[in-house]
Amino acid sequence: MVSDWPRAIAQGWHPVAYRPEVRARPLPIQLLGENLVAFRDADGGIAVLQDRCPHRGVPLSQGRLRDGTLVCPYHGWRFAGDGRLVEVPGARTCPPVKARALPVREDAGLVWTCLAADPPPFPDLPPVMSDPALDRFWWPLAPSRAGLLDALENHLDPAHPHFVHPWLVRPPTARRTTRVEVRSGPWGAEARYIEQRANRALLSAVMEGERKAGIGRLWPPTCGEVRLENARGAMLSIAVVFSPLDHDLTRPYAHFASTRGLLPAWFKRAALKLFHLPVLAQDRRMLGWQADARGPGGFAFGPLDVLARSILRHAHGEPSPEEEASFELDL
Ligand code: FES
Ligand SMILES: [Fe+2]
Repeated sequence: MVSDWPRAIAQGWHPVAYRPEVRARPLPIQLLGENLVAFRDADGGIAVLQDRCPHRGVPLSQGRLRDGTLVCPYHGWRFAGDGRLVEVPGARTCPPVKARALPVREDAGLVWTCLAADPPPFPDLPPVMSDPALDRFWWPLAPSRAGLLDALENHLDPAHPHFVHPWLVRPPTARRTTRVEVRSGPWGAEARYIEQRANRALLSAVMEGERKAGIGRLWPPTCGEVRLENARGAMLSIAVVFSPLDHDLTRPYAHFASTRGLLPAWFKRAALKLFHLPVLAQDRRMLGWQADARGPGGFAFGPLDVLARSILRHAHGEPSPEEEASFELDL
C-alpha cells in the first residue's frame, strides 16, 4: 500500500525504466508495490497504466500492442495510452471504461512516473546528467534486495567503505583527518569532505589521481550524487536515483559523469564498471542483510551519519531550513 511509505516517496516522481527498455512489447514494471505496465502509444510517446484490466483484472502486460494500443490477453479489450477503452471485440459499442493511466515524464534518458493523484513538481536532478561537455553514461543495474532509504544512505555514507570496501574505496587503516562542511536546506543537503592528504585506496589511485575533495549530495527525495574532485580540476560524479519497487526491493539508476581528458570515454566506462562490480556486490550484500533483519524500532544516529537526517526529513516531506556546520572526522 502506497500509504505505508514516507510522504514524499509515496507522492514523488520515480524512474521506472530506461527509455530504450520500452520497446515493441508491453513492459511490466513495479513501483511502490504497485504493478504497472509501460508501452509506446500511438503518438510514439510512452504511456504507463496500472497493470490490471478493468474488465476482469488480468495483467495487461501479458497482452500485446496493436497500433499503439494495448490489447488485454483475456477478452481483447483494447486501451489507448491515456487508459481509454477503445474497442470491445464483438461489440458495436464501447462502455466509458478507463484503465488507470499515470503521468509520464521522459527526463535524462529515464521514464518517470508518479502514483499521486496530484503530482508534485518534478525533482531537480544533478546538472551532470545533462551536461554535454562531460563523458557520461548510465549503467543499467538490476533491482536488489534493499530498502530505498537504506540504499540511498549507503551511497552517501562516508563511514562504511573502510569496512565494506577496504582498499577499493578507502584504506581500512590509517585514517586521515578530514574537514567536513555540511549544508542543508529545502533544496537538499551536501557534505563536502576536504582531504588533507592523498587517499591511498584504489579508487583514488586509478580513477582520480590525487583527490582534493569528495562531495556527497542529496537531490531529494531519492537521488544521491558522489562527486570526487582532484587537484587538477578534474571530477568524477556517480549519481544514483533509487527507485522503490517495493519495501525491500530497490532499483538503482546509476549515472557516471567525468571530465573529458586523456582517457577515451569507452575506456573510462569499462574501467568504472570493472571497478564498481565488486563494490556493488559488497554493498548489495550488506543492504540485503539489513533488509532481512528489519524489525520494529528505529535507528541510532552516529557522528559520521552526516546526511542521514536530511535523507529522512526530505523523504517525509519535511526538509530543514538552511543550516550549515563544519567539523573534523577521521576518514
Ligand atoms: S479481463 Fe481484460 S478484457 Fe476481460
Ligand atoms: Fe558502499
